[in-house]
Amino acid sequence: MPKLLETREDVELMVNQFYQKIRQDAELGHIFEDVAHIDWDLHLPKMYDFWEGILLGTANYAGRPMPPHFRLTAKYTLTPEHFDRWLHLFFENVDALFEGETAADAKYRAYSIATVMNQRVQQVNEQISSGN
Ligand code: HEM
Repeated sequence: MPKLLETREDVELMVNQFYQKIRQDAELGHIFEDVAHIDWDLHLPKMYDFWEGILLGTANYAGRPMPPHFRLTAKYTLTPEHFDRWLHLFFENVDALFEGETAADAKYRAYSIATVMNQRVQQVNEQISSGN
């Protein structure tokens, strides 16, 4: 049964389940594992802080979300379809676990950040393909 998204523990659950889906996903899993060689013990706490900051107003995340994705697309081209898939899994995961205003906010914020990130990543892809 979906519940309200209210606490750090809820955010951790959302993030853990989301990346569980990502790791198993045929379109995205290999990018995290084989291209980025991601260290999950470092990545997951960073993502707890990132989403807790956005949804619950804490200030533990002090990073910059965009640059790692520009570096990533230089190694393995990230397409609009990858971002669509990412968002699809994100929405599916939030809906399976949570209901209410903060859950809706999580989807809205994911949608807006993914939209901007995709636009900027596609610009980087164009720069790379034109040799700049
Ligand atoms: C195609 C979609 C995406 C892929 C394949 C992807 C992949 C990755 C990878 C591999 C990293 C780790 C990079 C590193 O440590 O070197 C990362 C970091 C991160 N991603 Fe994504 N990502 C995607 C979309 C998004 C979106 C839409 C958001 C936000 C809504 C997001 C938020 C973040 C954040 C906050 C970090 C941590 C940045 C930091 O180091 O501070 N990602 N992503």
